[in-house]
Amino acid sequence: MECVAAVDDNSETPLLTVKDLNKRYGKGCPACETPEMLAGDDNRCPHCGSVWACIHVQFELYAGEILGVVGESGSGKSSVVKSLYFDEDVHSGVATISAYKGGKVNIFSESAQQKRYIRNYLMGMVYQNPLMGLKMSFSSGGNIAEKLIASGMYHVGNIRKRAGELLEHVDIPLSRMDERPKNFSGGMQQRVQISKALANNPPILLLDEVTTGLDLSVQARVLDLIRKIQREFEVATIVVSHDLGVIRMLADRTVVMRHGRIVEEGLTDQILEDPQRAYTQQLVHSLL
Ligand SMILES: Nc1ncnc2c1ncn2[C@@H]1O[C@H](COP(=O)(O)OP(=O)(O)OP(=O)(O)O)[C@@H](O)[C@H]1O
Ligand SMILES: [Mg+2]
Ligand SMILES: [Zn+2]
Repeated sequence: MECVAAVDDNSETPLLTVKDLNKRYGKGCPACETPEMLAGDDNRCPHCGSVWACIHVQFELYAGEILGVVGESGSGKSSVVKSLYFDEDVHSGVATISAYKGGKVNIFSESAQQKRYIRNYLMGMVYQNPLMGLKMSFSSGGNIAEKLIASGMYHVGNIRKRAGELLEHVDIPLSRMDERPKNFSGGMQQRVQISKALANNPPILLLDEVTTGLDLSVQARVLDLIRKIQREFEVATIVVSHDLGVIRMLADRTVVMRHGRIVEEGLTDQILEDPQRAYTQQLVHSLL
C-alpha cells in the first residue's frame, strides 16, 4: 500500500518548479529597483529604460505535459525560457528540477559548471532563429554529435548511429546527415534543431516560437512532428508562442503573460473558451 502511495505522490511532484522569477534587462536606477516601483502595469522604467521582463513568474511543469506560454510581443515569454536555459542571468527567483539533486536545489544559484551539466543532461532548447540553435558550418549530424558529446557520449560509431536515428525521427533522410543545415529549408532547419534538442533524451524541452515565420503548411508539419515526438519521448515541454493557434494545437495547460507577469493560467481549452482576463479575451478574439 505504502509503495502505491509513494508512486502517486511522485506523479504529483512537478518536474520543474519556478517560483518568483524576476529578470531585469538594464542596470536599473533608484526608480526601478523593484518591479513594484514602476507605475501602472508598464514594466519599462521611464527614467533609465530598464525593463522588468519577468515579474514574480511562477509555474509548475509536470512530467509528460506540454505547457503553453502565450502573450503579445515583448510580454516576457522568451525571457522565461532563456532564463531557465541559462542563456540569461536572472535577478532573483527559484527554480528546482525534481530530477536534479532531489529538487532541493535552486538551479539559478548553481555554479557555471553545474548549469552546464543541467543544460547538457536535463534540457533541450529550440530557438525561433535556427542560427541560435545550430552551427551552420557543421553538418546536421555534427550538430547533433556536439550535443551527444556534451552529454557524455564519446564512441564515434555510437554517435553516428544515434544521430542518424534522431534525424530519422524528424523525417530527415539519412542521406542528408552530412550536409550543412545552411542549405536546408526553414522547416528542415527547425527539425534538425528539434532532433538536436532531444539528442540527450532530456526530461525537459523548451521550444521558443519554433514555427514562427514558417509557411503555414510547413508550420503544420512541424507542429505535428512536435506532438508525435513529445509523445514518443515523453518529454515535459514548454511551448512559447505569441500564436494561440499553436498553443491550442499543442498545449495541455497554458499561462498567459503580459508586461512580464503571468496574468492568467489554466487548461488550454478553458483559457480559449472562457478567458477570464480582458487581455486574454483580446488575444482569443484576435484568433477568431
Ligand atoms: N537582450 C535584451 N536587452 C534589453 N531588453 C531586452 C532584451 N531582450 C528582451 N528585452 C526586453 O524584455 C522584454 C521581454 O522580451 P522577450 O523577448 O522576453 O518577450 P517575448 O514575449 O518573447 O516577445 P516576442 O513575442 O516578440 O518574442 C521586452 O520589453 C524586450 O524589449
Ligand atoms: Mg520571444
Ligand atoms: Zn530605472
